[in-house]
Amino acid sequence: MYKIAVIPGDGIGKEVIAEGVKLMKDIEDLGGPAFELTEYPWSCGYYLENGKMADDDFLDTLKGYDAIYLGAIGDPAVKDHIALGQFLLKLRREFDEYVNLRPIKLLNVDICPLKNITSTGQIDITVVRENSEGEYSNVGARLFEGRDDEMALQTGVFSKKGTERIMRYAFELARKEHKTLTSVSKGNALGYSMVFWDETFARIAKEYPDVETHTCLVDAASMFFVKNPERFQIVVTSNLFGDIITDLGAAIAGGMGLAAGANINPERTYPSMFEPIHGSAPDIAGQGKADPMAALWSVSQMLDHFGHEDLGRMIIEAIKMVIDEKQVVPFDLGGQASTTEVGEAVREKFAEIYKKK
Ligand code: IPM
Ligand code: MN
Repeated sequence: MYKIAVIPGDGIGKEVIAEGVKLMKDIEDLGGPAFELTEYPWSCGYYLENGKMADDDFLDTLKGYDAIYLGAIGDPAVKDHIALGQFLLKLRREFDEYVNLRPIKLLNVDICPLKNITSTGQIDITVVRENSEGEYSNVGARLFEGRDDEMALQTGVFSKKGTERIMRYAFELARKEHKTLTSVSKGNALGYSMVFWDETFARIAKEYPDVETHTCLVDAASMFFVKNPERFQIVVTSNLFGDIITDLGAAIAGGMGLAAGANINPERTYPSMFEPIHGSAPDIAGQGKADPMAALWSVSQMLDHFGHEDLGRMIIEAIKMVIDEKQVVPFDLGGQASTTEVGEAVREKFAEIYKKK
């Protein structure tokens, strides 16, 4: 029995998480692992009613769970940096979810916007994004506000511990999966943080002589994601660069409706958190137009984390079958199928695959 805290959040977060919850219930009914799901209303919606994003002791409450399943946080009526700083980013930091694991895996060439892609194998990248410090460390100042000499400082924090641990995680993954590892950074311009990053990568690489390594500047990596994505297998990068290149990655692999991300605390001292990487999409919220595939893919990542990689793979296979068949096509992939229709189609495929195994 896995205890899961479900936080649908705002906007389409609620719609897509509902589909993921149905999938978990199906998995249990089919004879797979059981889930005890507890829902929490914490969100911008909650903020607008209560003046805070979550209960004061929300971290204590969540600490007791095996995982957190999160939809999306964001509402035009609440300043993003408040909503995210007080909640999402705080959670990632406080629970030391220092690995943000984001698969960029093309399931069908027809959903790829790149004309040079002829087989799905050309886009199969796992981005290991540093998720606890770096450019997202909330260190800085606003000086002389309102004056002509006003200034803002934002400091990146790259600790030895933080940099080494994310790299070791990526090296271990590359070793386990027999894949190459590319470090994406910007040492040619950021002479402190990224030179430190590059030196650390070169040093840790010596511990893993069996892993083929590459380095790539983030601007060049952005170009190669489009021109030659097959160059990349595992990528390790900083918090901000990882944020940016995974949106690009989502775009080349079929769009934000398909992109999932896991915020992992590898030591399992705290629960890890699984979420689609898309936002709350207020423009389409409440219309049943959201694609739940990313949220379903997040359930797959959660199962991987619990050691049920077989079930995790089946979910991705089910998503792929729905996309391949082109019978139930979500709006973001050019179709008319609603969130619940897409969710149901994936669950049906999942059940078929599960029963055959
Ligand atoms: C993501 C999101 C967040 C991030 C935002 C909402 C703070 O864009 O998960 O990629 O930048 O990490
Ligand atoms: Mn992002």
